[in-house]
Amino acid sequence: MDKKKGSFTGSLGFILAAAGSAVGVGNIWRFPYLAAKDGGGLFILIYLVLVLTFGFTLLTTDIAIGRKTRKNALQAFGSISPKWGFLGKLTFLVPALIMTYYSVIGGWITKYLYDYIVTDGVEAAEDGYFVGFITSETLPIVFMLIFLLVTIWIVYRGVEKGIEQFSKFVMPGLLLLIIGIAIFSLTLKHTDTTGVTRTGIDGLIVYLKPDFKGLTLSKFLNILLDAMSQLFFSLSVSMGIMITYGSYVKKETHLEKSITQIEIFDTGVALIAGMMIIPAVFVFFGMEGMGSGPSLMFISLPKVFAAMGGTGKFVGILFFVMVVFAALTSCISIMETLVANCMEIFHAGRKKVCMGVGIFAVVTAVIICLGYNVLYFEVPLPNGSTGQLLDMADYISNSFLMPLISFLTCIFIGWVVKPGWIEGEMLENGAAFHKKRMYEIMVRYVAPLMMGILFLQSTGIFGFLGWE
Ligand code: PHE
Repeated sequence: MDKKKGSFTGSLGFILAAAGSAVGVGNIWRFPYLAAKDGGGLFILIYLVLVLTFGFTLLTTDIAIGRKTRKNALQAFGSISPKWGFLGKLTFLVPALIMTYYSVIGGWITKYLYDYIVTDGVEAAEDGYFVGFITSETLPIVFMLIFLLVTIWIVYRGVEKGIEQFSKFVMPGLLLLIIGIAIFSLTLKHTDTTGVTRTGIDGLIVYLKPDFKGLTLSKFLNILLDAMSQLFFSLSVSMGIMITYGSYVKKETHLEKSITQIEIFDTGVALIAGMMIIPAVFVFFGMEGMGSGPSLMFISLPKVFAAMGGTGKFVGILFFVMVVFAALTSCISIMETLVANCMEIFHAGRKKVCMGVGIFAVVTAVIICLGYNVLYFEVPLPNGSTGQLLDMADYISNSFLMPLISFLTCIFIGWVVKPGWIEGEMLENGAAFHKKRMYEIMVRYVAPLMMGILFLQSTGIFGFLGWE
Protein backbone atom coordinates (compact mmCIF):
# COMPACT_ATOMS: atom_id res chain seq x y z
CA MET A 1 0.00 0.00 0.00
CA ASP A 2 2.92 2.26 0.79
CA LYS A 3 4.34 1.75 -2.64
CA LYS A 4 2.53 4.68 -4.14
CA LYS A 5 3.44 6.97 -1.28
CA GLY A 6 6.26 9.37 -2.02
CA SER A 7 9.16 9.91 0.35
CA PHE A 8 12.10 12.23 0.78
CA THR A 9 15.32 10.63 -0.39
CA GLY A 10 17.18 11.55 2.81
CA SER A 11 17.40 13.83 5.84
CA LEU A 12 18.68 16.82 3.90
CA GLY A 13 15.80 16.72 1.46
CA PHE A 14 13.36 16.54 4.35
CA ILE A 15 15.02 19.36 6.32
CA LEU A 16 15.11 21.68 3.32
CA ALA A 17 11.53 20.90 2.28
CA ALA A 18 10.24 21.45 5.83
CA ALA A 19 12.35 24.60 6.15
CA GLY A 20 10.92 25.64 2.78
CA SER A 21 7.44 25.37 4.22
CA ALA A 22 8.43 27.17 7.40
CA VAL A 23 10.36 29.99 5.76
CA GLY A 24 7.88 32.25 4.03
CA VAL A 25 6.41 35.70 4.15
CA GLY A 26 6.00 35.12 7.88
CA ASN A 27 9.76 35.27 8.37
CA ILE A 28 10.59 38.00 5.93
CA TRP A 29 7.72 40.34 6.51
CA ARG A 30 5.77 39.47 9.67
CA PHE A 31 8.67 38.79 12.03
CA PRO A 32 10.52 42.08 11.36
CA TYR A 33 7.42 44.22 11.72
CA LEU A 34 6.40 42.52 14.95
CA ALA A 35 9.93 42.98 16.31
CA ALA A 36 9.84 46.66 15.37
CA LYS A 37 6.46 47.07 17.04
CA ASP A 38 7.13 44.98 20.15
CA GLY A 39 10.30 46.41 21.62
CA GLY A 40 13.02 44.97 19.35
CA GLY A 41 15.32 42.73 21.36
CA LEU A 42 12.63 42.01 23.93
CA PHE A 43 10.41 40.44 21.30
CA ILE A 44 13.37 38.54 19.86
CA LEU A 45 14.33 37.18 23.25
CA ILE A 46 10.79 36.00 24.01
CA TYR A 47 10.50 34.49 20.55
CA LEU A 48 13.74 32.53 20.94
CA VAL A 49 12.59 31.04 24.25
CA LEU A 50 9.27 30.08 22.67
CA VAL A 51 10.92 28.42 19.67
CA LEU A 52 13.06 26.23 21.89
CA THR A 53 10.13 25.18 24.07
CA PHE A 54 6.72 25.46 22.36
CA GLY A 55 8.09 25.39 18.83
CA PHE A 56 10.05 22.24 19.52
CA THR A 57 7.10 20.55 21.21
CA LEU A 58 4.58 21.30 18.46
CA LEU A 59 6.94 20.49 15.60
CA THR A 60 8.00 17.23 17.23
CA THR A 61 4.38 16.23 17.81
CA ASP A 62 3.32 16.88 14.20
CA ILE A 63 6.31 15.24 12.54
CA ALA A 64 6.28 12.19 14.81
CA ILE A 65 2.53 11.66 14.28
CA GLY A 66 3.12 11.79 10.52
CA ARG A 67 6.04 9.41 10.47
CA LYS A 68 4.51 6.94 12.89
CA THR A 69 1.06 6.70 11.28
CA ARG A 70 2.34 7.25 7.70
CA LYS A 71 -0.95 9.06 7.19
CA ASN A 72 -2.15 12.60 6.62
CA ALA A 73 -3.97 14.64 9.24
CA LEU A 74 -7.47 13.72 8.05
CA GLN A 75 -6.87 10.07 8.85
CA ALA A 76 -3.91 10.14 11.22
CA PHE A 77 -5.81 11.17 14.34
CA GLY A 78 -8.69 8.79 13.70
CA SER A 79 -6.28 5.93 13.09
CA ILE A 80 -4.77 6.44 16.55
CA SER A 81 -8.14 6.79 18.26
CA PRO A 82 -11.44 6.77 16.33
CA LYS A 83 -13.02 9.16 18.84
CA TRP A 84 -10.46 11.80 17.93
CA GLY A 85 -11.06 11.62 14.20
CA PHE A 86 -12.75 15.02 14.38
CA LEU A 87 -9.36 16.59 15.14
CA GLY A 88 -8.10 15.45 11.75
CA LYS A 89 -11.01 17.18 10.04
CA LEU A 90 -10.42 20.35 12.01
CA THR A 91 -6.73 20.28 11.13
CA PHE A 92 -7.48 19.80 7.45
CA LEU A 93 -9.53 23.01 7.48
CA VAL A 94 -6.46 25.17 8.12
CA PRO A 95 -4.49 24.52 4.92
CA ALA A 96 -7.78 24.61 3.01
CA LEU A 97 -8.39 28.11 4.36
CA ILE A 98 -4.82 29.32 3.96
CA MET A 99 -4.74 28.02 0.39
CA THR A 100 -7.49 30.50 -0.51
CA TYR A 101 -5.33 33.55 0.17
CA TYR A 102 -1.66 32.57 0.27
CA SER A 103 -1.45 32.50 -3.51
CA VAL A 104 -3.07 35.95 -3.60
CA ILE A 105 -0.23 37.33 -1.49
CA GLY A 106 2.17 35.30 -3.67
CA GLY A 107 0.67 37.12 -6.65
CA TRP A 108 1.27 40.52 -5.06
CA ILE A 109 4.93 39.63 -4.50
CA THR A 110 5.25 38.37 -8.07
CA LYS A 111 3.84 41.67 -9.32
CA TYR A 112 6.45 43.65 -7.38
CA LEU A 113 9.21 41.43 -8.75
CA TYR A 114 7.86 42.08 -12.24
CA ASP A 115 7.82 45.84 -11.54
CA TYR A 116 11.42 45.88 -10.41
CA ILE A 117 12.49 43.90 -13.46
CA VAL A 118 10.72 46.04 -16.06
CA THR A 119 10.77 49.48 -14.39
CA ASP A 120 13.12 51.44 -12.14
CA GLY A 121 10.77 50.85 -9.20
CA VAL A 122 9.95 54.53 -8.69
CA GLU A 123 6.28 54.05 -9.43
CA ALA A 124 6.05 51.15 -6.95
CA ALA A 125 7.25 53.55 -4.24
CA GLU A 126 4.55 56.14 -4.89
CA ASP A 127 1.81 56.75 -2.34
CA GLY A 128 -1.29 54.73 -3.07
CA TYR A 129 0.47 52.33 -5.46
CA PHE A 130 -0.13 49.21 -3.40
CA VAL A 131 -3.77 49.95 -2.64
CA GLY A 132 -4.33 50.93 -6.28
CA PHE A 133 -2.93 47.59 -7.37
CA ILE A 134 -4.79 45.27 -5.01
CA THR A 135 -8.10 47.02 -5.59
CA SER A 136 -7.82 46.79 -9.37
CA GLU A 137 -10.00 44.09 -10.88
CA THR A 138 -7.78 42.05 -13.16
CA LEU A 139 -4.07 42.51 -12.35
CA PRO A 140 -4.09 40.79 -8.94
CA ILE A 141 -5.88 37.82 -10.52
CA VAL A 142 -3.36 37.57 -13.36
CA PHE A 143 -0.36 37.58 -11.03
CA MET A 144 -2.03 35.20 -8.58
CA LEU A 145 -2.59 32.78 -11.47
CA ILE A 146 1.06 32.90 -12.50
CA PHE A 147 2.14 32.16 -8.93
CA LEU A 148 -0.45 29.43 -8.47
CA LEU A 149 0.35 27.66 -11.73
CA VAL A 150 4.01 27.30 -10.73
CA THR A 151 2.88 25.90 -7.37
CA ILE A 152 0.50 23.42 -8.99
CA TRP A 153 3.16 22.31 -11.44
CA ILE A 154 5.70 21.51 -8.72
CA VAL A 155 3.17 19.65 -6.57
CA TYR A 156 2.05 17.76 -9.68
CA ARG A 157 5.62 16.51 -10.13
CA GLY A 158 5.47 14.81 -6.74
CA VAL A 159 7.41 14.62 -3.50
CA GLU A 160 10.86 13.67 -4.78
CA LYS A 161 10.96 15.18 -8.23
CA GLY A 162 8.93 18.25 -7.39
CA ILE A 163 9.08 19.38 -3.79
CA GLU A 164 12.42 17.95 -2.71
CA GLN A 165 14.32 18.95 -5.82
CA PHE A 166 12.88 22.44 -5.84
CA SER A 167 13.62 22.99 -2.14
CA LYS A 168 17.18 21.73 -2.49
CA PHE A 169 17.77 24.24 -5.23
CA VAL A 170 15.93 27.20 -3.78
CA MET A 171 16.63 27.15 -0.03
CA PRO A 172 20.45 27.52 -0.10
CA GLY A 173 20.05 30.30 -2.69
CA LEU A 174 17.53 32.05 -0.50
CA LEU A 175 19.90 31.91 2.46
CA LEU A 176 22.74 33.44 0.44
CA LEU A 177 20.49 36.20 -0.91
CA ILE A 178 19.15 37.18 2.47
CA ILE A 179 22.61 37.26 4.07
CA GLY A 180 23.90 39.36 1.16
CA ILE A 181 21.09 41.92 1.40
CA ALA A 182 21.41 42.08 5.21
CA ILE A 183 25.13 42.90 4.94
CA PHE A 184 24.29 45.55 2.36
CA SER A 185 21.64 47.02 4.70
CA LEU A 186 24.17 47.35 7.50
CA THR A 187 26.49 49.41 5.29
CA LEU A 188 23.79 51.98 4.43
CA LYS A 189 24.14 55.62 5.53
CA HIS A 190 21.78 58.51 4.86
CA THR A 191 21.42 62.14 5.88
CA ASP A 192 17.83 63.38 5.88
CA THR A 193 16.50 66.88 5.18
CA THR A 194 16.88 67.89 8.84
CA GLY A 195 20.58 67.08 8.65
CA VAL A 196 20.41 63.92 10.79
CA THR A 197 22.65 61.11 9.62
CA ARG A 198 21.69 57.51 10.41
CA THR A 199 23.67 54.36 9.65
CA GLY A 200 22.70 50.74 9.24
CA ILE A 201 24.52 49.91 12.45
CA ASP A 202 22.31 52.41 14.35
CA GLY A 203 19.34 50.55 12.89
CA LEU A 204 20.79 47.21 13.98
CA ILE A 205 21.02 48.51 17.54
CA VAL A 206 17.36 49.63 17.42
CA TYR A 207 16.46 46.13 16.22
CA LEU A 208 18.45 44.15 18.77
CA LYS A 209 18.34 46.29 21.92
CA PRO A 210 15.55 45.21 24.27
CA ASP A 211 13.25 48.12 24.95
CA PHE A 212 11.70 47.93 28.41
CA LYS A 213 10.35 51.46 28.36
CA GLY A 214 6.75 51.65 29.58
CA LEU A 215 6.54 47.89 29.90
CA THR A 216 3.45 46.80 31.84
CA LEU A 217 2.13 43.33 32.52
CA SER A 218 -0.61 43.65 29.93
CA LYS A 219 1.88 44.93 27.36
CA PHE A 220 4.15 42.02 28.14
CA LEU A 221 1.27 39.58 27.68
CA ASN A 222 0.46 41.12 24.33
CA ILE A 223 4.05 40.71 23.19
CA LEU A 224 3.91 37.11 24.37
CA LEU A 225 0.74 36.48 22.37
CA ASP A 226 2.19 38.16 19.28
CA ALA A 227 5.29 35.99 19.56
CA MET A 228 3.21 32.87 20.06
CA SER A 229 0.96 33.36 17.06
CA GLN A 230 4.02 34.23 15.00
CA LEU A 231 5.53 30.93 16.07
CA PHE A 232 2.60 28.84 14.78
CA PHE A 233 2.49 30.60 11.49
CA SER A 234 6.23 30.61 11.01
CA LEU A 235 6.86 26.96 11.82
CA SER A 236 3.79 25.80 9.83
CA VAL A 237 2.66 23.72 12.82
CA SER A 238 -0.84 22.64 13.83
CA MET A 239 -2.19 22.68 10.31
CA GLY A 240 -1.39 19.18 9.19
CA ILE A 241 1.46 20.29 6.94
CA MET A 242 4.20 18.89 9.13
CA ILE A 243 2.16 15.70 9.63
CA THR A 244 2.12 15.24 5.86
CA TYR A 245 5.84 16.01 5.51
CA GLY A 246 6.54 13.74 8.50
CA SER A 247 4.76 10.89 6.70
CA TYR A 248 7.37 11.14 3.91
CA VAL A 249 10.34 10.78 6.28
CA LYS A 250 12.27 7.54 6.37
CA LYS A 251 12.78 5.67 9.61
CA GLU A 252 16.57 6.15 9.37
CA THR A 253 16.22 9.91 9.76
CA HIS A 254 17.18 11.20 13.20
CA LEU A 255 14.07 13.19 14.07
CA GLU A 256 15.31 15.30 16.97
CA LYS A 257 18.36 16.45 15.03
CA SER A 258 16.30 17.27 11.94
CA ILE A 259 13.71 19.18 13.98
CA THR A 260 16.43 21.28 15.62
CA GLN A 261 17.90 22.05 12.21
CA ILE A 262 14.52 23.08 10.81
CA GLU A 263 14.04 25.41 13.78
CA ILE A 264 17.50 26.92 13.36
CA PHE A 265 16.87 27.51 9.65
CA ASP A 266 13.48 29.10 10.21
CA THR A 267 14.51 31.29 13.14
CA GLY A 268 17.83 32.19 11.51
CA VAL A 269 16.06 33.44 8.39
CA ALA A 270 13.60 35.48 10.49
CA LEU A 271 16.44 37.07 12.47
CA ILE A 272 18.46 37.90 9.36
CA ALA A 273 15.33 39.24 7.63
CA GLY A 274 14.99 41.67 10.52
CA MET A 275 18.64 42.67 10.10
CA MET A 276 17.97 43.33 6.47
CA ILE A 277 14.70 45.25 6.75
CA ILE A 278 14.83 47.18 10.02
CA PRO A 279 18.18 48.94 9.51
CA ALA A 280 17.20 49.85 5.93
CA VAL A 281 13.88 51.38 6.98
CA PHE A 282 15.51 53.09 9.97
CA VAL A 283 18.29 54.65 7.90
CA PHE A 284 15.83 56.32 5.54
CA PHE A 285 12.81 56.96 7.78
CA GLY A 286 14.06 56.87 11.38
CA MET A 287 11.87 55.69 14.23
CA GLU A 288 8.72 56.76 12.38
CA GLY A 289 9.30 54.03 9.81
CA MET A 290 9.32 51.42 12.57
CA GLY A 291 5.58 51.59 13.22
CA SER A 292 4.51 50.91 9.65
CA GLY A 293 3.21 47.43 10.56
CA PRO A 294 1.86 45.09 7.90
CA SER A 295 2.45 47.61 5.13
CA LEU A 296 6.20 47.28 5.70
CA MET A 297 6.95 45.02 2.75
CA PHE A 298 4.72 46.52 0.08
CA ILE A 299 4.82 50.19 1.03
CA SER A 300 7.85 51.07 3.18
CA LEU A 301 10.44 48.90 1.48
CA PRO A 302 9.77 50.17 -2.07
CA LYS A 303 10.28 53.67 -0.66
CA VAL A 304 13.59 52.54 0.82
CA PHE A 305 14.65 51.08 -2.52
CA ALA A 306 13.65 54.29 -4.30
CA ALA A 307 15.67 56.35 -1.82
CA MET A 308 18.73 54.25 -2.68
CA GLY A 309 18.82 55.68 -6.17
CA GLY A 310 20.30 53.54 -8.96
CA THR A 311 21.13 50.53 -6.80
CA GLY A 312 17.52 50.39 -5.57
CA LYS A 313 16.27 48.61 -8.68
CA PHE A 314 18.90 45.94 -8.33
CA VAL A 315 18.32 45.42 -4.60
CA GLY A 316 14.55 45.39 -5.24
CA ILE A 317 14.93 42.59 -7.78
CA LEU A 318 17.10 40.50 -5.45
CA PHE A 319 14.74 41.11 -2.55
CA PHE A 320 11.58 40.14 -4.39
CA VAL A 321 13.21 37.11 -6.05
CA MET A 322 13.98 35.92 -2.58
CA VAL A 323 10.47 36.55 -1.27
CA VAL A 324 8.90 34.83 -4.29
CA PHE A 325 11.03 31.75 -3.60
CA ALA A 326 10.16 31.78 0.09
CA ALA A 327 6.45 32.15 -0.64
CA LEU A 328 6.52 29.45 -3.33
CA THR A 329 8.00 26.74 -1.10
CA SER A 330 5.39 27.60 1.56
CA CYS A 331 2.50 27.58 -0.87
CA ILE A 332 3.75 24.25 -2.22
CA SER A 333 3.56 22.75 1.27
CA ILE A 334 -0.01 23.97 1.73
CA MET A 335 -1.11 22.56 -1.60
CA GLU A 336 0.79 19.30 -1.06
CA THR A 337 -1.03 18.80 2.22
CA LEU A 338 -4.41 19.22 0.54
CA VAL A 339 -3.40 16.94 -2.33
CA ALA A 340 -1.97 14.24 -0.06
CA ASN A 341 -5.08 14.21 2.14
CA CYS A 342 -7.40 14.01 -0.86
CA MET A 343 -5.35 11.24 -2.48
CA GLU A 344 -5.79 9.26 0.70
CA ILE A 345 -9.53 9.75 1.15
CA PHE A 346 -10.50 9.40 -2.51
CA HIS A 347 -7.94 6.68 -3.27
CA ALA A 348 -7.08 8.66 -6.36
CA GLY A 349 -3.80 9.37 -8.16
CA ARG A 350 -1.74 12.53 -7.71
CA LYS A 351 -2.45 13.94 -11.16
CA LYS A 352 -6.22 13.78 -10.88
CA VAL A 353 -6.24 15.16 -7.35
CA CYS A 354 -3.87 17.97 -8.34
CA MET A 355 -6.36 19.07 -10.95
CA GLY A 356 -9.22 19.05 -8.45
CA VAL A 357 -7.30 20.88 -5.73
CA GLY A 358 -5.93 23.25 -8.38
CA ILE A 359 -9.45 24.20 -9.46
CA PHE A 360 -10.46 24.75 -5.82
CA ALA A 361 -7.38 26.93 -5.30
CA VAL A 362 -8.01 29.04 -8.40
CA VAL A 363 -11.71 29.61 -7.71
CA THR A 364 -11.24 30.54 -4.05
CA ALA A 365 -8.23 32.76 -4.75
CA VAL A 366 -10.22 34.65 -7.40
CA ILE A 367 -12.93 35.26 -4.79
CA ILE A 368 -10.32 36.56 -2.32
CA CYS A 369 -8.91 38.89 -5.02
CA LEU A 370 -12.41 40.21 -5.66
CA GLY A 371 -12.70 40.87 -1.92
CA TYR A 372 -10.83 44.11 -2.57
CA ASN A 373 -13.24 45.42 -5.16
CA VAL A 374 -16.45 43.72 -6.33
CA LEU A 375 -16.96 41.71 -3.14
CA TYR A 376 -15.64 44.37 -0.78
CA PHE A 377 -17.17 44.48 2.67
CA GLU A 378 -15.72 44.97 6.11
CA VAL A 379 -16.30 42.51 8.88
CA PRO A 380 -15.54 43.32 12.51
CA LEU A 381 -13.11 40.77 13.94
CA PRO A 382 -13.05 39.69 17.60
CA ASN A 383 -9.63 41.30 18.12
CA GLY A 384 -11.15 44.71 17.57
CA SER A 385 -9.93 45.26 13.99
CA THR A 386 -12.01 45.05 10.86
CA GLY A 387 -11.12 43.14 7.76
CA GLN A 388 -12.29 41.97 4.38
CA LEU A 389 -12.24 38.43 2.96
CA LEU A 390 -8.49 37.85 3.15
CA ASP A 391 -8.24 39.10 6.73
CA MET A 392 -11.20 36.95 7.68
CA ALA A 393 -9.70 33.75 6.28
CA ASP A 394 -6.41 34.63 7.94
CA TYR A 395 -8.06 35.32 11.29
CA ILE A 396 -10.08 32.12 11.33
CA SER A 397 -7.11 29.95 10.37
CA ASN A 398 -4.24 31.56 12.27
CA SER A 399 -5.74 33.23 15.29
CA PHE A 400 -8.69 30.97 15.97
CA LEU A 401 -8.18 27.45 14.58
CA MET A 402 -4.46 27.02 15.10
CA PRO A 403 -4.43 27.59 18.87
CA LEU A 404 -7.53 25.41 19.18
CA ILE A 405 -5.92 22.58 17.22
CA SER A 406 -2.66 22.87 19.17
CA PHE A 407 -4.60 22.79 22.41
CA LEU A 408 -6.56 19.68 21.40
CA THR A 409 -3.48 17.96 19.96
CA CYS A 410 -1.55 18.51 23.19
CA ILE A 411 -4.44 17.15 25.28
CA PHE A 412 -4.71 14.18 22.94
CA ILE A 413 -1.00 13.35 22.95
CA GLY A 414 -0.32 14.40 26.55
CA TRP A 415 -3.28 12.74 28.25
CA VAL A 416 -5.01 10.27 25.90
CA VAL A 417 -2.25 8.48 23.98
CA LYS A 418 0.48 9.68 26.40
CA PRO A 419 3.86 11.20 25.45
CA GLY A 420 5.51 7.76 25.44
CA TRP A 421 3.86 7.13 22.07
CA ILE A 422 5.73 10.06 20.51
CA GLU A 423 8.91 9.22 22.38
CA GLY A 424 8.91 5.73 20.92
CA GLU A 425 8.88 7.24 17.44
CA MET A 426 11.65 9.69 18.29
CA LEU A 427 13.90 6.86 19.53
CA GLU A 428 13.30 4.81 16.37
CA ASN A 429 16.42 3.29 14.82
CA GLY A 430 18.57 4.01 17.88
CA ALA A 431 18.17 7.79 17.66
CA ALA A 432 18.48 9.88 20.83
CA PHE A 433 15.78 12.11 22.35
CA HIS A 434 17.65 14.54 24.61
CA LYS A 435 14.74 16.88 25.25
CA LYS A 436 12.41 14.09 26.31
CA ARG A 437 11.68 15.44 29.83
CA MET A 438 11.02 18.91 28.55
CA TYR A 439 8.76 17.53 25.84
CA GLU A 440 6.67 15.65 28.39
CA ILE A 441 6.18 18.66 30.64
CA MET A 442 5.43 20.95 27.71
CA VAL A 443 2.95 18.70 25.96
CA ARG A 444 1.02 17.82 29.12
CA TYR A 445 0.96 21.04 31.11
CA VAL A 446 2.54 24.18 29.73
CA ALA A 447 1.48 24.01 26.08
CA PRO A 448 -2.22 23.22 26.65
CA LEU A 449 -2.44 26.04 29.19
CA MET A 450 -0.87 28.61 26.87
CA MET A 451 -2.79 27.39 23.83
CA GLY A 452 -6.02 27.52 25.79
CA ILE A 453 -5.34 31.14 26.76
CA LEU A 454 -4.39 32.03 23.21
CA PHE A 455 -7.56 30.45 21.88
CA LEU A 456 -9.76 32.27 24.38
CA GLN A 457 -7.99 35.50 23.51
CA SER A 458 -8.80 34.95 19.82
CA THR A 459 -12.50 34.71 20.62
CA GLY A 460 -12.35 38.19 22.11
CA ILE A 461 -13.68 36.98 25.46
CA PHE A 462 -11.03 38.76 27.55
CA GLY A 463 -11.94 42.07 25.97
CA PHE A 464 -15.61 41.26 26.56
CA LEU A 465 -14.92 40.64 30.24
CA GLY A 466 -13.01 43.91 30.45
CA TRP A 467 -9.68 42.17 31.24
CA GLU A 468 -7.67 43.91 28.56
N1 PHE B 1 5.35 29.24 7.58
C1 PHE B 1 5.09 30.13 6.52
C2 PHE B 1 5.69 31.49 6.78
O1 PHE B 1 6.39 31.70 7.71
C3 PHE B 1 3.67 30.34 6.25
C4 PHE B 1 2.84 29.19 6.06
C5 PHE B 1 1.64 29.19 6.63
C6 PHE B 1 3.26 28.12 5.34
C7 PHE B 1 0.84 28.15 6.48
C8 PHE B 1 2.47 27.07 5.20
C9 PHE B 1 1.25 27.09 5.77
O2 PHE B 1 5.43 32.38 6.03
